[in-house]
This record gives sequence, C-alpha cells and structure tokens, in this order.
Amino acid sequence: MSIKGKFITIEGMDGAGKSTQIQFMKRYLEDKGYKVLITREPGGTIIGEKTRAVILDNKHKEMDSRTEALLYAASRAQHVSQIIIPALQRGEVVLCDRYVDSSMVYQGKGRDLGYKPIKMINDFATQGLEPDLTVLLDIDPTLSLQRIIARGEGDRLEGEKIQFHVAVHNAYMDLAKMYPNRIKVVNANGKIEDIRIEVEKLLKNIFKGESIYEATNSYCSR
Ligand SMILES: Nc1ncnc2c1ncn2[C@@H]1O[C@H](COP(=O)(O)OP(=O)(O)OP(=O)(O)O)[C@@H](O)[C@H]1O
Ligand SMILES: [Mg+2]
Repeated sequence: MSIKGKFITIEGMDGAGKSTQIQFMKRYLEDKGYKVLITREPGGTIIGEKTRAVILDNKHKEMDSRTEALLYAASRAQHVSQIIIPALQRGEVVLCDRYVDSSMVYQGKGRDLGYKPIKMINDFATQGLEPDLTVLLDIDPTLSLQRIIARGEGDRLEGEKIQFHVAVHNAYMDLAKMYPNRIKVVNANGKIEDIRIEVEKLLKNIFKGESIYEATNSYCSR
C-alpha cells in the first residue's frame, strides 16, 4: 500500500473537546497549504452507518461485549478501506475523531475484554493502519461528565456512571504509556485557546522538516 498523506487521530473522553479542537487543527493545516479531511466513524459509509446504528440502539440491552467490540471493528474496517486509505493515497492529511484507541479504552477496559483481543481484531480491521500522531485530550473525568450533562445528551454509553468514566480515563493513561511515541497527551481542563496552542505545537512537530510539496506530492513508504 502506498501512502502519501498523514494520518492524525484525536482521542479523549466524551466532552473532552475533540470536535472543538479538530476544527482548529483543520484550519491550521489548511492555512499551511495541506488538503485536510476530517472524519469520524462510521464516516458516511452506508455499511458503517448501519453497523453503528445496531451498536447504539438503546433497545439492544442484551448486546454481548464481544458483539459490541466486533461491530465497532467492522464499522472501522469499512471506514478505513473506503474513506481513510483512499484519502491518504491522494496525499491528504486525515484528521480522525476517535479510532482504535477508543475501542481499547471503551471495550478493552470499560467492558473488561482486555487490550490484547481488542488490539488483535482492530489490527485485522484496519489492515494495520496506525496513526502518525494521536492527540489525547486529557480531561478530569468529573469535568467531562459535567459537560455531557450540560449538553443534555445521552446514548447507551453515556448513560454509564462516574466509575466508568474514571476507568476510561485510567485506560487512556495506560495507552499513553504503552505508545509514548505516537500518543501525545494534552491537558484539556483549561481554556479552549490554550489547548489549541498546545495542539498546534504537536502538529508543527509532526510536519517538521517537510515542505508542502513533499507532503502533497511525494511518496513516503511505511
Ligand atoms: N476547553 C474547554 N473549556 C470549556 N468548554 C469546552 C472546552 N472545550 C470544549 N468545550 C465545550 O464542551 C462541550 C464538549 O466539547 P466537544 O464537543 O468539543 O467535545 P468532544 O470531545 O467532541 O465530545 P464528544 O466525545 O461527546 O463528541 C462543547 O459544548 C464545547 O463547546
Ligand atoms: Mg465530538
């Protein structure tokens, strides 16, 4: 597989500020001349949408944790092959709101399946495609829960209690330790503007020494 672009993911608990910061990231990179695609699972693929609808349906209370993990991986497989890989092959920067790390955290730790099986099914699902950079917005779990409640939203996952949020937070910290080169932790408890500046530093680093010409026209093998 020949990949020219860069693949960047953003992670963090619900309400951590991912949607807010990803828009800043897009603007920052576009100003530098990169072509940027923002996406999130299921990414507009019909198969992914249908799969996701089964997972998030509040009526499906009997769903086994393994079923849930496999459905997320199935939705991701379609998103990767239909949307992300083609964009990378066109030389674009792909900014993805949540990716495999979310499954490691929510299904691996949150649903107690363990990291190993989640990593295994997702390596298969993603054809081994790993991000060049993962920005992890690290927010205090009580603060993220407050934001979710303030929004008045809720699906099957957000209905869980604070203990679940603490477990998710701890799992994200586990991952940051497991993949220190890829995952960069940004303190997300502060002001939107301060977080934006920290995230831009990470972007600057990942594109260091690379001209726009190289980023959009040359092949780099991985
Ligand atoms: N640093 C911040 N300080 C205060 N409020 C913030 C901050 N960042 C984002 N918000 C607000 O918190 C809410 C959640 O932010 P956002 O939607 O960006 O989070 P998210 O990580 O995308 O959440 P989800 O996982 O649920 O999609 C929004 O109302 C947003 O305006
Ligand atoms: Mg969001």
